[in-house]
Amino acid sequence: MMRRNRILRQSASIREMVSETVLKPSDFIVPVFIVEGKGVKEEISSMPGYYRYSTDLVVEELRSCWNAGIRSTLIFVKVADDLKDNTGKEALNDNGLMQNAVRAIKKALPDMIVMTDVALDPFSIYGHDGIVEGQEIVNDKTVEVLAKMSVSHARAGADFVAPSDMMDGRIGAIRVALEEAGFTKTGIMSYAAKYASCLYGPFRDALDSAPGFGDKKTYQMNPANRVEAIKEALMDVEEGADIIMVKPAHAYLDIIREVKNEVQLPVSAYHVSGEYSMIKAAAKAGYLDEERAIMEILTGIKRAGADLIATYFARQAAEIINR
Ligand code: PBG
Repeated sequence: MMRRNRILRQSASIREMVSETVLKPSDFIVPVFIVEGKGVKEEISSMPGYYRYSTDLVVEELRSCWNAGIRSTLIFVKVADDLKDNTGKEALNDNGLMQNAVRAIKKALPDMIVMTDVALDPFSIYGHDGIVEGQEIVNDKTVEVLAKMSVSHARAGADFVAPSDMMDGRIGAIRVALEEAGFTKTGIMSYAAKYASCLYGPFRDALDSAPGFGDKKTYQMNPANRVEAIKEALMDVEEGADIIMVKPAHAYLDIIREVKNEVQLPVSAYHVSGEYSMIKAAAKAGYLDEERAIMEILTGIKRAGADLIATYFARQAAEIINR
């Protein structure tokens, strides 16, 4: 018998009816970069169309995102150089830029899910995610600080903390610290499989957080590894994570799928700064249609298994969907 597969492709209505993957604005987590001051909106040179905002303006940007149907944000801060040290002291300041921003966003947009980045690099004179001794990024001392930092974020009102540091044992330590402090409703979105990727370059420009010496290969994963990603994800599930993240996204679709098949938790994927900038650059050069590239790639990430996608295209994609 003749099988006519093209029956299901013959019109836009039929294609829409049988579409297996459908993006919606609430799939997206919008990352934001916050700086001190008032009325500040500065474009990040390696991320055209993306900005650092002061807290007053980030609230307005997030209000637009909320109105477009986005329900969650992931916050990063760029602190002044004189607040950086090798202990993460400023990261624990209950009146720090991060903590104040969380309070301001939750006050203006109480239902917006606020997720905070937990790692020491924006606070580190070395630009590393942990405490440095000699040439080493020390694990257990860093984990102690990350646990305290998470409690400080929870106290400010964060809905989820998002540890992006790749130290061993931090999910368990953060869960215990949150319990002990009485924060039984604060979630943990773990950057479980985070690779040592060149695609974070533009982000490090955005926060002025490039490592001062060496690289991050002793804590972030080797891009060549697959089994290790599953090990990391399963351990973070055991330790109490609520959402498991794979990062980057577009170059790691196989990992997203395998992790999704292994864990019984929502999986998020981080479509990172370099993945954003590549599309922007190609579109600007006229090599690609920007909107079609955005929607195709984000659909591919969801099809691979991501329930949530952190992406700098969140607002733009939501607006395309809502048209
Ligand atoms: C740092 C952190 C990084 C990103 C998120 N958190 C950079 C790094 O690990 O060096 C990258 C995000 C992006 O490139 O969009 N803890």
